[in-house]
Amino acid sequence: MRNRRAALAAIASAASLALTLTACGQNSEGGSEEDKSGSDGATVGIAMPTKSSERWITDGANVEKELKSKGFKTKLVFGEDDPDQQVSQIENMITQGVDALIVAAIDNKSLGNVMQQAKDADIPVISYDRLILGTENVDYYASFDNEKVGELQGGYIVDKLGLKAGEKGPFNIELFAGSNDDNNTKYFFNGAMKVLKPYMDKGQLVVRSKQTALNQVTTLRWDGGTAQKRMDDLLTSSYRSARVDAVLSPYDGISIGILSALKSDGYGSGSKKMPVVTGQDAEIASVKSIKAGQQTQTVFKDLRQLAKVAANMVDSVLNDKKPEVNDTKSYDNGAKVVPAYLLQPVSVDKSNYEKVLVDGGYYTADQLN
Ligand code: GAL
Repeated sequence: MRNRRAALAAIASAASLALTLTACGQNSEGGSEEDKSGSDGATVGIAMPTKSSERWITDGANVEKELKSKGFKTKLVFGEDDPDQQVSQIENMITQGVDALIVAAIDNKSLGNVMQQAKDADIPVISYDRLILGTENVDYYASFDNEKVGELQGGYIVDKLGLKAGEKGPFNIELFAGSNDDNNTKYFFNGAMKVLKPYMDKGQLVVRSKQTALNQVTTLRWDGGTAQKRMDDLLTSSYRSARVDAVLSPYDGISIGILSALKSDGYGSGSKKMPVVTGQDAEIASVKSIKAGQQTQTVFKDLRQLAKVAANMVDSVLNDKKPEVNDTKSYDNGAKVVPAYLLQPVSVDKSNYEKVLVDGGYYTADQLN
């Protein structure tokens, strides 16, 4: 098996060998480093955004495992949620001569230059989970159906409040979205709003803070503390004489911040019922919170599958094969539509976490105790 760069190098070196032989009747220097063959010789650089969230640590480990099982070498880096740091980490990996890159962006718009450097060095790039924007130099996208994630969160709220079954409300809801520099944020939010907005329009769901536009509800770098502060402020400004019934949260780390603010305000004790609070990623702390009746729901995305998809993409690209994709229209990054393989997310709550997460082998029952 030959990887793409090695194959190109081999063609170049064969051409130069022919030239050399013709010109001087001498042997060329064969067996250069570029001549290596097989995935064993190829190294894949993996850039993950942060270690501050469990999921990306899991992603890093899963992707390495999948690549190693195919015989690749790996270099794994985490960017501490700092876009500049991620850029220099990727630059370093390019300089070190990686053969392919898998990148989960911190700031989706900050990678244009470094993607050009990758292109100039003939290094294919897989955008991982989050789409890199504004550059043609992204080859494939491995992710989940991100709009569906939002639909599952919004749909859960509608179901849980009984709106679908005919409850009239009105119910009070507040909205949270992810980081504004993450391309997924608008997909999650738009997916949720697709389900929630009709009830808001009819007055059955009321956002007392009136903060309903995406740019009013984002949470920079998905930070739980930032979300906690905003929830504190909302409770003070809009809920002194009313109760909040539901909070749309796009991600478990944000949900934890929201729940802290709610608990400090007395929700979850006495007659002050905890509102419906959604989430995403099925992180262990949040599944425990769901078991304990605090967070209500999360959206599970099987990171084992995502790692497989990304590793298969690299394997195909480096071997001159077309990776399998299942979506060639949804993800326009502003420079091109990036061919994608999108996996399906699953809504998880108290009623099915055991079946999905434990029986599914994602966590052991012990991990959730
Ligand atoms: C998103 C990702 C979510 C969540 C969030 C915060 O890009 O799709 O699953 O992990 O980042 O890390």
